[in-house]
Amino acid sequence: MIDTTTTTPVLRVQDLTVRYGNIVAVHSANLEVRRGERVAVVGESGSGKTSLANAIAGFLDPLAGEVDAATLELDGVPLSRSGEQERIPRRTPGLSMVFQDAMSSLDPVWSIGSQLIAVLRETEKVGKKQATQDALQWLREVGITDPERVMGAKPHELSGGMRQRVMMAIALSSKPSLLIADEPTSALDASLAVGAMQLMVDLAERVGTAVLIITHDIELCRRFTDFVVVMYHGEIVEQLRSSELDNATHPYTRGLLACVPTLRSARLDQLPTLESVRAEAEEQAA
Ligand SMILES: Nc1ncnc2c1ncn2[C@@H]1O[C@H](COP(=O)(O)OP(=O)(O)OP(=O)(O)O)[C@@H](O)[C@H]1O
Ligand SMILES: [Mg+2]
Repeated sequence: MIDTTTTTPVLRVQDLTVRYGNIVAVHSANLEVRRGERVAVVGESGSGKTSLANAIAGFLDPLAGEVDAATLELDGVPLSRSGEQERIPRRTPGLSMVFQDAMSSLDPVWSIGSQLIAVLRETEKVGKKQATQDALQWLREVGITDPERVMGAKPHELSGGMRQRVMMAIALSSKPSLLIADEPTSALDASLAVGAMQLMVDLAERVGTAVLIITHDIELCRRFTDFVVVMYHGEIVEQLRSSELDNATHPYTRGLLACVPTLRSARLDQLPTLESVRAEAEEQAA
């Protein structure tokens, strides 16, 4: 059995700071994700979750934000992007990212088949015929029953739920070591969100991909992740095992835990703030 404590982490982040002009969106963050691990990032709106994720994935617009890090490594190799002045993000080998809105992950003018085949040809170094067979298989694996039709469809011709599945197929078909998912299920209602998460973690496990997932759903963290990282005002204030969430000490985490049932039933339009979770916890205690 492999001793995971001594193997190279998939992701190593030390002292990472993200600034937008005078705004410090992420302040000196330290984070490690080991092989096959699933880590959740939670925190109120504006706490810096997306900035952290985009800085790691290389999706931060260099004209808007600036990233500084003592260490930023994927599979032990520095993710050096300094000096890049391109505004169009490039794929980082070994890393995939999915978003809340599947439309923003997919190219609107290319068919699903051509997007999936392009990724498969690049990563598997296979011919078009083999890539087409593999693409059909990937679509079946994400539960699409008519893969031939979907291959020829443009993203806008599919339902939201199908686009979400296609996005996961494309993200994981390159067999990345790390998948970063920024609120991938927030646009779905509660029952669909659980199914989409299950699909994502099953596929990631099969491919051997570690997952860094941004969410505000504590129940999803408990059920699907190994560790939880709590952000507050740009800082990582707490990191703990998902199974030990009840021992969280930071007031924001405690507040979030205290009002889970109400939050769940309300299906938030907005993320909770420390003030709102405190008020809600007090209301429940009364
Ligand atoms: N392009 C940008 N230019 C200027 N400021 C920005 C930009 N993007 C984010 N910010 C600011 O950086 C801070 C962190 O934002 P970020 O989007 O990372 O938070 P978040 O935790 O993902 O929030 P949410 O839960 O609402 O998605 C906020 O103060 C935000 O206003
Ligand atoms: Mg965000």
